[in-house]
Amino acid sequence: MKKLVFLTGAGMSAESGISTFRDSGGLWEQYPVEAVASIQGYERDPELVQKFYNERRQQLGSVTPNEGHKLVASLEDKFKVSVITQNVDDLHERAGSQHIIHLHGELMKATSSRNPNDPNCIVTLPADNPVIHMGDKAKDGSQLRPFIVWFGESVPMIEPAIEEVSRADILVVIGTSLNVYPAAGLLNFANSRCKIYLIDPNPVPYDPSLGIHHIMKGASKGMEELCQLLVNEG
Ligand code: OAD
Repeated sequence: MKKLVFLTGAGMSAESGISTFRDSGGLWEQYPVEAVASIQGYERDPELVQKFYNERRQQLGSVTPNEGHKLVASLEDKFKVSVITQNVDDLHERAGSQHIIHLHGELMKATSSRNPNDPNCIVTLPADNPVIHMGDKAKDGSQLRPFIVWFGESVPMIEPAIEEVSRADILVVIGTSLNVYPAAGLLNFANSRCKIYLIDPNPVPYDPSLGIHHIMKGASKGMEELCQLLVNEG
């Protein structure tokens, strides 16, 4: 079986009703990114940051995976699939994908403010009330915080992600503006035989020497086209 690796961003979940960050009307137009998605922002105003992610979690309960997520999962019948996602939602999981690397954390999890990457401190929030209150404590006694990789923090899952990309026969990038590093740099780890596809309805800046096949469509229609293109592979 060929190894098929997906790298997904906010555009993957746009058709499920979750706003992207940088498109017009995106989240970073409504909230200053440094206030709600940086470690300095959290240190300055933890209540505001907790409120922001409590709201994101509430929204997640009311959305479902779209056709694109489902088609990504369906390709596991024919390929060895792994999904590297910058998204903190759980829509790939809910669509049935089995091997998922979350580069930027997971919305439904919480962790320690002192040691965010300590596996003993990472907990899954209850699905029926996924809220973190100020005063809720992690196992190490520190304030419980969202399990999100904020700007200014390390990205521990980048190493396994590089490993996956470097072994890919086919790499499919969906719905990311490739603005945020180190995730955006993952394309450079594809080996020279790896075929790279990009699904995004808008132009995305990438290195033309990578020979990328750009399917200029949204995630669901783009995945339908990709499945046709891959029909003789596997
Ligand atoms: P962006 O908001 O930067 O980019 C979204 C991309 O999705 C753009 O290229 C859009 O053209 C594309 N898009 C829009 N609608 C789409 C659709 N229906 N189908 C497919 N693509 C569509 O989001 P990311 O690149 O994911 O990190 O942002 C990267 C990181 O920046 C996020 O993980 C987040 C943010 O700050 C943190 O919060 C830590």
